[in-house]
Amino acid sequence: MIQIEKLRKVYRARGREVTAVDGVDLTVAEGEVFGVLGRSGAGKSTLLRCVNLLERPDAGRVRVGGRDLLALRGPALRRARQGIGMIHQHFGLLGSRTVAGNVAFPLEVMGVPRAERAARVDELLELVGLTEHARAHPARISGGQKQRVGIARALAGRPKVLLSDEATSALDPATTASILELLRDLNRRLGLTILLITHEMEVVKRICDSAAVMRDGRIIESGPVTGLLARPGSELTQGLFPLPPAVPRAGSTVVEVTFAGGAADRPFVSALARRFSVDVTILGGAVETVGGERVGRLRLELPGGPSANTARLAFLRESGLAVEVTTPGWAPADEEDPR
Ligand SMILES: Nc1ncnc2c1ncn2[C@@H]1O[C@H](COP(=O)(O)OP(=O)(O)O)[C@@H](O)[C@H]1O
Ligand SMILES: [Mg+2]
Repeated sequence: MIQIEKLRKVYRARGREVTAVDGVDLTVAEGEVFGVLGRSGAGKSTLLRCVNLLERPDAGRVRVGGRDLLALRGPALRRARQGIGMIHQHFGLLGSRTVAGNVAFPLEVMGVPRAERAARVDELLELVGLTEHARAHPARISGGQKQRVGIARALAGRPKVLLSDEATSALDPATTASILELLRDLNRRLGLTILLITHEMEVVKRICDSAAVMRDGRIIESGPVTGLLARPGSELTQGLFPLPPAVPRAGSTVVEVTFAGGAADRPFVSALARRFSVDVTILGGAVETVGGERVGRLRLELPGGPSANTARLAFLRESGLAVEVTTPGWAPADEEDPR
């Protein structure tokens, strides 16, 4: 649905150049919720603004629904942009207008006739659960309700794609959860493709099918969320399941086990202990439900050096787990690959 190729955006201000987006390739499939995660300054907002051409990229290609946006001009470009809704952290509502008036605004700009407009506003308010607040002014509603207005307004032109720039960053955790649930619901009911950017792991955990991690203008990892979680070295995994620094005992081996799906439901720690008559120490870990699947990360300490543990690690790998030896000072090349 969204194809971004070799995208580059450089800002020039006061003789200084900042490469905000530095050669990004990204594909968002139709009907998926795709999250781009990264710290402040990583280039996330710039990337998003290049997708609806709020910013014109310096190089690269942006296709939405198969159409090359950079090749469009005038009315064709305006129509294409109507097919892309956007929501923001700071809602951007008109204080002088009611909730209904804010949602009507884009319809007025599009030239939708009055009667049709009123019906469409009702429908949109119903969709986001704000029917009762139609006549209220933004100053009188909560942050979560403001974001619901933002979402209704973004959906006015029946877009196929919704872009979200930190839409829940100004909200408390409970309100964040309800807005994410609404986005998930709209994604399913309307088949809406959602590209969202966030610095909150929670957002990715709750609603994203796929995700990418952005740093210094580049994508450093990307893929289906459960696939990324199965990779022990993944930044996403480390962010979702932060573990404290390991302090192993001398002569022991520390391993990190990452699991998703069926492997998460098997008692692999006790199976390992029984099979090899070995005492396994759990140094840290977390288990969560992501996309309806149980996923997690465990740091285990096994007695003995690497050679004493070859068969045990092979056993864990054969159980469908991703296993990485993380004993401090341990070079991966020393590890024998059992396969
Ligand atoms: N309009 C602008 N002019 C100059 N520099 C900008 C502009 N917008 C963003 N930048 C710079 O580009 C980089 C990426 O910014 P941004 O896309 O906002 O990152 P993020 O959304 O991940 O925090 C930052 O170094 C930021 O200072
Ligand atoms: Mg930003």
